[in-house]
Amino acid sequence: MALREILVVPHPILKQASQPVDAVDDELRALMDDMLETMYAAPGIGLAAIQVGVPKRVIVMDLHRPEEEKQPRFFVNPEIVWTSEETAPYEEGCLSVPEIYDEVERPARVKLRYLNYAGEPVEEDAEGLFAVCIQHEMDHLEGVLFIDHLSRLKREQAIKKVKKQAKAA
Ligand code: NI
Repeated sequence: MALREILVVPHPILKQASQPVDAVDDELRALMDDMLETMYAAPGIGLAAIQVGVPKRVIVMDLHRPEEEKQPRFFVNPEIVWTSEETAPYEEGCLSVPEIYDEVERPARVKLRYLNYAGEPVEEDAEGLFAVCIQHEMDHLEGVLFIDHLSRLKREQAIKKVKKQAKAA
């Protein structure tokens, strides 16, 4: 396993749509292992492949509480097949928009389909933080960041702030 570099705004690759994966093979699992390690090191709770510069429809996630064991999860070619009409706000952040947090309103519950680490099809319901996180990560697959859900002014301020941090680093 190896750490990958996480791209930050305004990197143009982050605006790119990702392509479906043909097969869940060892090469893809190696990518998922790297992504998971990179996410844990950041630290973060979710990461899409495009954030490490790979335009594939792959997401890793771990929502375990600090006192619990790690619970890594892998989503290949995820699709949302149902969303609730009810929405809920959540203060989101993103490893590609470091140190910026703001409230985004999304469907409170979703039903999703994906392939897991073994390449098996899974259908699952998500609510709470899981629903927020999977929708946030699936936005990345379309080149959409959480700041794209904010006003233009807030988005521009966020990017400006990240650029400033990068210069200072
Ligand atoms: Ni993100």
